[in-house]
Amino acid sequence: MRSASRLLAIAASLGIAAAPITAQQRWIENGPDRGLPAPEAAWRPYDADLAHPANRIFASTFLVELVPAEVGAALPAEAENATANGADARHFGKRPGEERARRLFGGDALQLPRESFSAAESKELIAALEALQGELLAALRTSTFACVWLQNDILRLARRLLDTDANPELLAPLLGAARRLALPRAQLLDSALATFSPKDLAAVEPTIDPARLVEVERRSTRLFDAERTLLWSRVFFQWPDTDGRDFADELAAIAKGEASKVPAGTRAVLVQGIVALDDRGAPCATPLAIDVRLQQFVGAADPAAAKATTTRDGVDFRVFWLARETLRTKGGAVTLRDFREFDDEDQVLFRDYGSLKHTTIGAQCTLCHRVSGTPEPELAGFPLLRKTAQPRVASSPTARLELAEREFVKFLAALASAAKRNSVTTR
Ligand code: HEC
Repeated sequence: MRSASRLLAIAASLGIAAAPITAQQRWIENGPDRGLPAPEAAWRPYDADLAHPANRIFASTFLVELVPAEVGAALPAEAENATANGADARHFGKRPGEERARRLFGGDALQLPRESFSAAESKELIAALEALQGELLAALRTSTFACVWLQNDILRLARRLLDTDANPELLAPLLGAARRLALPRAQLLDSALATFSPKDLAAVEPTIDPARLVEVERRSTRLFDAERTLLWSRVFFQWPDTDGRDFADELAAIAKGEASKVPAGTRAVLVQGIVALDDRGAPCATPLAIDVRLQQFVGAADPAAAKATTTRDGVDFRVFWLARETLRTKGGAVTLRDFREFDDEDQVLFRDYGSLKHTTIGAQCTLCHRVSGTPEPELAGFPLLRKTAQPRVASSPTARLELAEREFVKFLAALASAAKRNSVTTR
């Protein structure tokens, strides 16, 4: 809470009364910690009452002060480290986190910073989970949005604890709470729950023509396996007309082993949404999308334009994450315009490679999506067009959702048996 007291001191010295913090001010807007959650901010994702158990569960999972395992060279404070890696390879550079790297991470967004709990924290979390009963639970269950997302928070935490092999005592209470939040499948599939439609893209990114988007099925890496992410993921491509080659032909050529030669102007849209557990214990891919990412290969013909992209070598990204609180305060009437757009320079704690790394969004995307310095520059930063991903035109709009449900079942089985094993030994 250092910054909170510092801010209050500044406010006092200027004679201003401390005003309530608005949603925007919850994130540090500028300076060396740009994009991290503001330590003085209060987060109310699920209820206006900060002390509501659902808000407490969120806070214990998504707001964590810690020393990251690694610190990326792309951070403003790492300028020296960045120079050592060459200005264009800042995304590669990193060093182990030390005490001075301690920060508050997380917030009402996608990435989950929590890895484990102290005994006292664990007790508090169990109390908050057990408070989801009776009238309070009944009230919560009147909001499909709240049930779906809170259940996802709870299950993602359980997934994390399985991965970090920490706090086995929490698994049964987490699974119990997730089950109490479970709703009937028909309710989970209600189209009123939909927060994304390709049609909404035109308003946000006019260079995308929703009518030209083609959905692609593929063999996903672990990054997009719902057994790990508890999210479904769909990808759409817009292949430029100018190429003289049809996108379906392109995919057929990849299947035959010809490497794709991605033309400038190629676009992709990645959408991820929540897979819920329904009241019969089965998975349900809900229409609630929370993560939308737009990708464009600008090309390398104009070096200045390429330099201005996210990867600095021709691939540009736009990242949109939905906030739980937006969904709550707008009563679910949400489109892509209501998602928060992140900046390349915003900082996040990522865990893509299994250890917590503090870096910028742009640097992290660049690691896996750059054009140069990779074995496959012709793919222009679209790993989905690798032969090993077996990309093909989607057989139906539900294929990826059904796949995610099958993957999610494996997670449920692992969680149920770990939770049972532990309740037998401790109770
Ligand atoms: C650890 C590597 C990694 C990181 C980091 C990463 N991605 Fe990806 N991304 C992939 C892979 C692999 C795929 C292919 C899809 C699959 O596996 O199903 C992909 C697919 C995508 C796609 C679909 C089109 C394509 O093939 O490129 C988009 C859009 C995308 N990622 C955006 C992003 C954004 C934005 C970031 C940064 C916030 C990011 N990715 C960070 C590995 C990564």
